Amino acid sequence: MKVIRNIVELRAELKQYRVTSNGDCRVGLVPTMGYLHEGHASLMNRAHELSDLVVLSIFVNPIQFGPGEDYETYPRNEEQDLALAERQGVDIVFIPQVEEMYPTQTLTKIRVSEVTQLLCGASRPGHFDGVTTVVSKLINIVQPDQAYFGLKDAQQVAVLQQMVHDLNMNVEIVPCPIVREEDGLALSSRNVYLSSEERKQALVLSRSLSEVKGTLEQEGSLRASEIREKLISLINLSPLAVIDYVEVLTFPALSRINDDVLLNHITGKLIIAVAVKFGKTRLIDNLLITPK
Ligand code: PAJ
Repeated sequence: MKVIRNIVELRAELKQYRVTSNGDCRVGLVPTMGYLHEGHASLMNRAHELSDLVVLSIFVNPIQFGPGEDYETYPRNEEQDLALAERQGVDIVFIPQVEEMYPTQTLTKIRVSEVTQLLCGASRPGHFDGVTTVVSKLINIVQPDQAYFGLKDAQQVAVLQQMVHDLNMNVEIVPCPIVREEDGLALSSRNVYLSSEERKQALVLSRSLSEVKGTLEQEGSLRASEIREKLISLINLSPLAVIDYVEVLTFPALSRINDDVLLNHITGKLIIAVAVKFGKTRLIDNLLITPK
């Protein structure tokens, strides 16, 4: 496994790899902010299935954090991350410093409209501009055939698919399923912030989503507002939970669903997405369903 910290060296390495394999190689990119866990590992596994060379990037991207968010305190552990990457058989790890990615004042941003304005985009203004800008830079640097993203951040997947489509980027965005702890909590680097009581109560997210899934499978003819109300009352049973949003939208367009429509009359996928704060920690989770 090669650990590369600068862009020129990474490009040279990739060029040499492409030349020696006569262009017959698929390069897969797995962008992360580090503090790697089994959710990240699942993206690397998927990358090994579809790509020949797996490039992992680890970069805590300052421009996707808002003022007062956790950029400074975001958990970091390079040694552990490299051990996990090695274990996963990653070929190249790209770990740039902030100055390498943003050497001068940055005047260009990539901004996707509409799908960035709701859910996490509404709670975290500018967040997705930071994500699309850094992911565009990584795609330009690595020029991957595939780039792998987790559906834990389903809105991020929808935004990036839109960006790649709109800008004719020659890369396939590969969505990967959510990886959970045994008790159901979706893995996240931010779970380390939770106190033991918050960690217990955080289970309300996955539990209420699966309860709603069960209800939908049995009844089949609910309205978006009924699902939202059910979820809100289930989540509010946890005294520490402070709801940021509970939404039912089409996926990946992220359009609102009119309340005269029964969900089983909708063709295509729906997302049931929640964001809930426990103390200072904001957790997200979601469920993708195909009602018809
Ligand atoms: P980060 O939060 O480190 O996540 C990196 C990738 O891992 C994302 O695609 C995310 O959806 C995926 N991931 C995280 N937890 C997961 C889980 N439990 N199951 C499946 N996949 C999971 O997302 C980012 O970083 C950044 O916004 C980034 C795309 C790297 C741009 O800076």
